[in-house]
Amino acid sequence: MWEYTDKVKEYFVNPRNIGALQDANAIGEVGSLSCGDALKLYLKIEDGVIVDASFETFGCASAIASSSALTEMIKGMKVEDAEKVTNQDIATFLGGLPKEKLHCSVMGAEALEAAIRNYKGLPPIEHEEEGKIICYCFNVSEETIRKAIEVNNLQTLEDVIQATKAGGGCKGCHDSIIDILDDMNGNGRVDQRNAVQTMQKIMMAMYKGFIQSLPRQDAVEILSVEGNIVRVNIHLPKEKKADALRELEALLQKEVDSNIVVKEVLL
Ligand code: FES
Repeated sequence: MWEYTDKVKEYFVNPRNIGALQDANAIGEVGSLSCGDALKLYLKIEDGVIVDASFETFGCASAIASSSALTEMIKGMKVEDAEKVTNQDIATFLGGLPKEKLHCSVMGAEALEAAIRNYKGLPPIEHEEEGKIICYCFNVSEETIRKAIEVNNLQTLEDVIQATKAGGGCKGCHDSIIDILDDMNGNGRVDQRNAVQTMQKIMMAMYKGFIQSLPRQDAVEILSVEGNIVRVNIHLPKEKKADALRELEALLQKEVDSNIVVKEVLL
């Protein structure tokens, strides 16, 4: 399970500024219900200062906490200062967010940008302006990915998936994301190639007998390989999970790398 800070829990249990703001003069909307997350941010701006803010969201605990934190952070702020707020600022305000939940703060920063554009009378950002769409499953543009990499110092494909959701579906965009990482960090391609090679070795080792011993082929699903950490999702009854994990780890340590650690991710 993810570790949430006390502040995230507090902002989730007692969200501030939730609901529509009747006299808002700026609204920013991001995400879509089909992606599982959506946020509508309402601002009331007077003389260039955000005097009130509220939100409505369809999302998880972190989305509620991030949106709520954002409204608290920007109340009383000049618009020109609010324009500089990044998703990292939201995460820092909350004392940190699990890597897997960083995309909730990214959504907050994007909603703020959209609301300020709305206040200035600018049209919503079209994807053509943002750069081409890289991930069609989650409708994420190149610009969004590049910004997330820069602001959050993302290093791996998995980091990008967790921060932006891009790449979290059919995997068809993984190569493009790796190219962007490579372009920005200089070493993405090498790291990812190693990960891909390790993944191939893992799959071969698993097909040597482990998979056949399971009640169904997809009972253990490899989610990611980062360094020596292999993350898996297990579709087995609770009492059988620990044995499957142990068996897989022993197999991979023998066949692939003696330092491999297998971790279950609860989705
Ligand atoms: S296109 Fe990105 S995950 Fe499918």
